Amino acid sequence: MSVRRWAIAGASGGIGAALVDQLAARAGVEVWALARGRLDGLPAHVRRLRLDYDDDASIREATEALAPLDGLIVATGWLHDLGRGLKPERSLRQQTREAFETAMRINVIGPALLAGNLLWRLPRDRPVRVAFLGARLGSISDNRLGGWHAYRASKAALHMLVRCYAIELRRTHPEAIIVALHPGTVSTKLAMPFLKGGRADQAFTPAEAARNLLAVLETLTAADSGGIFDWAGKPIKP
Ligand SMILES: NC(=O)c1ccc[n+]([C@@H]2O[C@H](COP(=O)([O-])OP(=O)(O)OC[C@H]3O[C@@H](n4cnc5c(N)ncnc54)[C@H](OP(=O)(O)O)[C@@H]3O)[C@@H](O)[C@H]2O)c1
Repeated sequence: MSVRRWAIAGASGGIGAALVDQLAARAGVEVWALARGRLDGLPAHVRRLRLDYDDDASIREATEALAPLDGLIVATGWLHDLGRGLKPERSLRQQTREAFETAMRINVIGPALLAGNLLWRLPRDRPVRVAFLGARLGSISDNRLGGWHAYRASKAALHMLVRCYAIELRRTHPEAIIVALHPGTVSTKLAMPFLKGGRADQAFTPAEAARNLLAVLETLTAADSGGIFDWAGKPIKP
């Protein structure tokens, strides 16, 4: 059996760590975990690389070490930093430069630079699978509640980039599958402060979310490239 190589960016996160665990348990899969800090408790055979979106050299070096890949999931992301008083906006008057800059830096610019270094290096002769974790909140047509301006805007921008990458790679990598995936509400550091009143019980665990995301990503085909899909494989309108 030939070994397939998968990489997870944001491997220290709730969903990212669960993705690494599940892929590492599979036979014939070589897993690379990308994170900006130390990674403890990962299976010994998982390879580790440093990736910090604020350090261009780390993006370049990680992508050079990785190619060629069979699968990549970008599970980095930012919603709040309660310690710095940054939380999702409930009104337009709560918008701050700091929240917008942070959301754009981590949810858009970092993944874009990673893509810019990596996607053109993907193998051209097989159905490589690439997912960026987006969010239903980044759908403009689905937005009925408003609020969460910086996060919503950053995820809408990420969805747009995914569409651009899919169009651009269609010519050189006709079998590639490049999508945005919404994991559902998942009990992680990112979401927990906002899961009050029983919603925590309704949220997926990171392990459930990882299982769902891998199952969806494995059923998609090149015809789906550029789309946004939820944890059950249902398309989300931009
Ligand atoms: N949880 C949910 O309910 C939910 C719902 C919809 C969409 N999503 C999306 O799913 C993705 C994963 O979320 P999660 O819930 O697993 O969040 P999480 O546990 O907070 O993980 C976020 C990950 O992003 C990494 N990261 C943050 N800033 C970075 C930077 N500058 N450079 C490199 N890595 C950086 C974090 O690294 P550190 O550990 O070093 O901070 C961590 O590994 C996000 O894109 C999120 O928007 C989540």
